[in-house]
Order: sequence, then C-alpha cells, then structure tokens
Amino acid sequence: MSESTQIAWNRKDLTGIEPLSRGEIELILDTAPQFVAVSKRQSGIKKVPLLQGRLVVNWFHEPSTRTRTSFELAAKRLSADTLSITASTSSSVKGETLHDTLANIEAMHSDVIVIRHNCAGAPHILAARHASHIVNAGDGRHEHPTQALLDAFTIREHVRKHTSNPEATLDGVKVAIIGDVEHSRVARSDIWCLNKLGARVCLCGPATLLPMDVERMGVEVTHDLREAIHDADVIYALRIQLERQAKALFPSIREYIRLFRIDSDSLQSAPAHALIMHPGPINRDLELATEVADGPRSVILEQVSNGVAIRMAVMHLLVNSGNKSGS
Ligand code: NCD
Repeated sequence: MSESTQIAWNRKDLTGIEPLSRGEIELILDTAPQFVAVSKRQSGIKKVPLLQGRLVVNWFHEPSTRTRTSFELAAKRLSADTLSITASTSSSVKGETLHDTLANIEAMHSDVIVIRHNCAGAPHILAARHASHIVNAGDGRHEHPTQALLDAFTIREHVRKHTSNPEATLDGVKVAIIGDVEHSRVARSDIWCLNKLGARVCLCGPATLLPMDVERMGVEVTHDLREAIHDADVIYALRIQLERQAKALFPSIREYIRLFRIDSDSLQSAPAHALIMHPGPINRDLELATEVADGPRSVILEQVSNGVAIRMAVMHLLVNSGNKSGS
C-alpha cells in the first residue's frame, strides 16, 4: 500500500522536492489520476470547481512556454481566476523588490503564486514572508518540483501498466539521466524525487556537465553512455543548456553527439522496454535524435499531459487541505 494513505497534506507551499517525505510525494501522485480523468472527458466540461473564485497568479521571470501554459491550464481546469505577470511587464524592471511586488499582488487577494525565477531560493524567501501559497516553477539551477512530480507520475503509470500491478511503486526502477546535469534544476528535483520513491538513479555525461560530488546525492555516476543505459528502465535526456554555459564545457557539439546522444544507434544498448523522457524544450538531434524523440518508446508528450494533472493536484492540495504551517 502506498504511504500516502496514511498522511495528510499540511504544507502552505511547494518550494521543492528536497523537504518532502515519500508519503507526501505519493499523496500528490495519488491525487493526480482524478485530474487526468477531468482533462480526458470526451463530453461535458473539462473543469472541476475546486478552486472556483480563487486567484492564481503566474509570475515568470524567465522564458517558459510549457510550464507556464501548463500551470495556467491547470488553474483554469480547477475553475480559478488566473493572471499572468512576466518580468518585462512587472515593476521589477523599475527596481521594485520581489517582496513589494508580491505585497501588491496580495493586496488584490491572490491565493496561489506560481513563480519562476533565475535566482535559486527566490520562492523560499517569498514563502517565508507572505500568506499566499507559493509554488516553485523553477528557481535558478536549484529545483523544479512539479517537473519531477510529473516525471515520477509518468514513470509510475508505465511501471503499473507494464507489470499489470495497479499498486506498483518505483522501488528498484532504474532511471538513467543523461547530459547537462550541472545546469539542470530538473535533474536535481528528479534525483530527490526518484531516490525518495526507491528508484535507482544513474547520471551520465561529460565530466564538465556533472556537478562535483554529485554521488553524495545517492546516485551512480558514469561517463559511459552504454554502461548507463544497458539495464535502464527509463532514459531521461536533459537539454544541453547552451544559454547557461559561460564557457564551452565540452570540446564540440559533434563530440557530444558521438558520445552521449540518445539515438537509434546508442539505444541498441538499452533494454527494449526502456522509456524515453525529456523535460522539453528539446534541442532536436543534439541530446536526442528526432527518430527517438518521436519514436514508439518516447513518452515526452505524456509528460506534458500529465503535467497539467500534477499541477492541478498540487494546487488543490495546497489550497484545500486545511493545514497551513510554512513550507
Ligand atoms: C526545464 C526548465 O526550464 O527548467 N524545462 C521545463 O520546465 N519544461 C528544462 C530546460 O529548460 O531544459
């Protein structure tokens, strides 16, 4: 039985995966299927009134398409009112502090603030001082908790289907995360999340793209792609974050492709059942070949669909769980 049946949600905010217990993570995952069903309704309204009359503000200080639209859609499917503020339209460009901007938004009685910020820790600072429910939609290189939750949910759904066991967990599942771990908040949240759920995580990439001492997070590390994927149940390609690299961290794109790209050639070393995942946006044919991204093992678009349900589950638990100790 999942640990989530024994616990209640009692956090005001979702600032990261690191502070969560396995039971809390499983509670979110177990809350999502009802929202998958809402989005899949063939007839009738693809909405539930759980956040009716509430105000959800999407406050993004970095470019984002899928995360921002996913949160916006999740809020709308919960019947909330939504507002979007981007950094270029907010008064931060005029020098206003994050606290002042949020105090002004809160004066209009916001309930949930979804924030993406290039500074690690920004959501935590706001969560400690403000009454709104803060959801971290990505802070610097630190965490991207809803991405990790939707990834874990997508993997769990496939494990359950594959084993014909509707209660199967991630215990013992091997996930190989390939590429630019150094710059990736997705990788950090995924490592926390998958480890807490009992999965084995193996990181693989050029030494310059793997953080020093990353083994301390309880992961295996290799620089040999075939070794990483030969027994993997999931192969998770990360985007090479060219925009975050101050200097070239690998000799050439051609070299990276030869050693680390997930393509039909390298995939010959992986088990036939291995799933292919990527958080998006993809640098097509750099970290992931088009034939694999669009191939039968890819669950990349399922990740996107599940993202809406996971974000509905998170906002529902934060707002409707009677709780409210700090994050
Ligand atoms: C990621 C992000 O912005 O952290 N994308 C996403 O949220 N779907 C990963 C990335 O940009 O590579």
